[in-house]
Amino acid sequence: MGVSLEGEKVILVPYMKEHVPNYHQWMQDPYLLFVTGSEPLTLDQEYEMQLSWSQDPLSTASFSLFLLSIYSVSSKFSERTFIVLDKQMIEGKILHGQPHIEAMVGDVNIYMNDPDDPLFAEIEIMIAEPKRLRAFCCLHAALDMTVQYRLAFYVYWHIDWECLITVLPWIVGRGKGLGKEAVMMMMAFAVENVGIHTFRAKIGESNQASLLLFRKLGFQDSSFSEAFKEWTLEMPVTNAKRDELLQSVGNMVTHS
Ligand SMILES: CC(C)(COP(=O)(O)OP(=O)(O)OC[C@H]1O[C@@H](n2cnc3c(N)ncnc32)[C@H](O)[C@@H]1OP(=O)(O)O)[C@@H](O)C(=O)NCCC(=O)NCCS
Repeated sequence: MGVSLEGEKVILVPYMKEHVPNYHQWMQDPYLLFVTGSEPLTLDQEYEMQLSWSQDPLSTASFSLFLLSIYSVSSKFSERTFIVLDKQMIEGKILHGQPHIEAMVGDVNIYMNDPDDPLFAEIEIMIAEPKRLRAFCCLHAALDMTVQYRLAFYVYWHIDWECLITVLPWIVGRGKGLGKEAVMMMMAFAVENVGIHTFRAKIGESNQASLLLFRKLGFQDSSFSEAFKEWTLEMPVTNAKRDELLQSVGNMVTHS
């Protein structure tokens, strides 16, 4: 079993076979496939993917083993995937080493896929929930304007606004700071344990949330592909950046 990382809002756990059915369900969503540039897999393919990722040398989290593996088998690219758990959604006590599927909200990955530089990592984040908000949006889109106005009056007069403001962040998985914390924890882990010196993120030009997230973290625009309508952003890990990153996840606890 690999390490798990506990932050203030999220816990990053290894991608386990128990996570596969939910993960597979997320990756049927055309929006998530589009923004992550992924192809839909069958459930069997997803299990194979999980198995291959769990057997990746980097999953052991041993820096010396990882370096040995990338320098001795230079044609093999390495990667690291964590499933993101929302701590608020964990039922009962947090048990490290357990999948806690009830709390899974997304994943965060790094890929060491530069053949000339194994310490250059591409990073990806996905907060796949909220399902319930999507259902609401579909319902809203399906109603005609007259019904929408009547519904708006009804909601205005009958809803308990104080209650709504309290529960809204619980209903909506996104926008709670989970993505930002997960990315920072993954970067801190990769800098400390793998020695990554530069991060890269590739993000579609229409994906404003993700562009804002990475730019706020200090990533700079590096290039734009007209063909793919995609920005490449990079962040070299200077000493100052490293200190800033480690300080911002200062309370992160590593469980192994
Ligand atoms: C992009 C994504 C990871 C953000 O995760 P999140 O948990 O909702 O984001 P956070 O709450 O941590 O917000 C961090 C920053 O992201 C930006 N952001 C998040 N949601 C946003 C939105 N709807 N609109 C604009 N900016 C947004 C903001 O800059 C925010 O910082 P702020 O709260 O200080 O304003 C999430 O929306 C997602 O997974 N989208 C689908 C997959 C994807 O696009 N992946 C990126 C490919 S690398």
